Amino acid sequence: MATKTGEGFSSSFGAIMAAAGSAVGLGNIWRFPYICGKYGGGAFLIVYIVFVLFIGMVLMMGEFVIGRRSGEDPMKAYPALKPKRPGWKYVGLAGLMTCFLILAIYLVISGWTLNYFWESLTGRLAGIADSDFGEHFKQFASSAGRPLLCVAIFLALTALVIVGGVDKGIERVSKLLMPILVVLLIALCVRSLTLEGASAGLSYLFKPDFSKLTGEGVLAALGQALFSLSVGMGVMIVYGSYLPKDDNILKTSLWITVCDFAIAILSGVAIFPAVFACGQDPTGGPGLVYQVLPVVFNSMGTIGRIFSITFFLLLSLAALTSAISLLEALTQWFSGKRLGRTGSALTVSLLVIFLAAAASFSFGDGIWSGFKIAGMSLFDLLDKLTGTILPPVCALMTIIFFGWVMNKEDIIDELSNHGMVKIGYFKLFYHILARVVAPLALLIVLVAGIIGG
Ligand code: TRP
Repeated sequence: MATKTGEGFSSSFGAIMAAAGSAVGLGNIWRFPYICGKYGGGAFLIVYIVFVLFIGMVLMMGEFVIGRRSGEDPMKAYPALKPKRPGWKYVGLAGLMTCFLILAIYLVISGWTLNYFWESLTGRLAGIADSDFGEHFKQFASSAGRPLLCVAIFLALTALVIVGGVDKGIERVSKLLMPILVVLLIALCVRSLTLEGASAGLSYLFKPDFSKLTGEGVLAALGQALFSLSVGMGVMIVYGSYLPKDDNILKTSLWITVCDFAIAILSGVAIFPAVFACGQDPTGGPGLVYQVLPVVFNSMGTIGRIFSITFFLLLSLAALTSAISLLEALTQWFSGKRLGRTGSALTVSLLVIFLAAAASFSFGDGIWSGFKIAGMSLFDLLDKLTGTILPPVCALMTIIFFGWVMNKEDIIDELSNHGMVKIGYFKLFYHILARVVAPLALLIVLVAGIIGG
């Protein structure tokens, strides 16, 4: 039990499932396949793997070290490790604010997913004509009541798990849901791969096309690596503070990274062969999951219905474990302020649902879509802030703290569990990756992101 409040994960396996639950989310199943295909398939994949291992995972280890060493929430963790530089607490605060914004938009998209799960279950989706799915999605997402109801249900589920506690709520639910998720996903892959014409989908996803791997593609790969591993926003500092003291941070991070990567690949294998086999457009982008896949499912008859229910259930569960980690980060922070776990989970939920509602109302042709900030609807603004701007900023500050401000001895002590574990990788990890490569790469993404708009 690592934290000052005495809460923590009860085992390394539980910690891995919870953190992998945070990492595996909409980013893997919905976002990864589409950008991988867009930027050159196998070519993108090579760059992505390098970024995941040498930047994303380094950040994850850094956050775990900061969290477990301090045993504090992200805002207190930095000053706890460097009392002479109290200003670093603002990096923790920025991360938490980013979590708040991500949670709002994540809830909206999770709500859509829940709705599609429900509509698959009740047969509503099966009754829609192929050409009407685009309109169906637009009408649903632009309406006010139903999406909000879905957000509220999804948030209530998330809050319920948080109120259960770290080991009895988060850890237990993650240990149950993550294996279910893998089984569902593998079942989908098998079905998808056995469709006639499936191989075109596989070559779209895997065949390297270096001509499509532009500078923009390289940046997208790094952005996706950060987003997918949930690093840079302090969530892994929170989970780090719950890590068992004897947990091997390198091993745990490696497992989480491998899970996250494997699920992204499997999602691509589940989606693209089916999309190609049914003659649909693979470049559907963000609308792929809600507008194109239902067409694919409908073309498969009865089995398609099961396919559809399974897929949207899978996506809802993946989103749930990610939302849990976001709400937990904010709850842990708030509970330091005299409110207990339940009180602070409820307070945060109440605050975030307002923002989520506003974001939802501003989507598409929604009732607030006319209200623009810097020329963007609130939904688009949040999407941009949380997708491309804030995470690399927070990640850059975190890695600078880890590599240049925090005491090296503390890091060695924490990674080696007070000398119990060999850390032969330390030189490469610390002197090359954490101090030089990762900060530089993040800086480049950030500058390029700002210039490119
Ligand atoms: N990793 C999540 C996904 O792939 C999304 C995410 C980004 C996230 N940052 C996060 C989740 C912070 C939890 C905490 O969908």
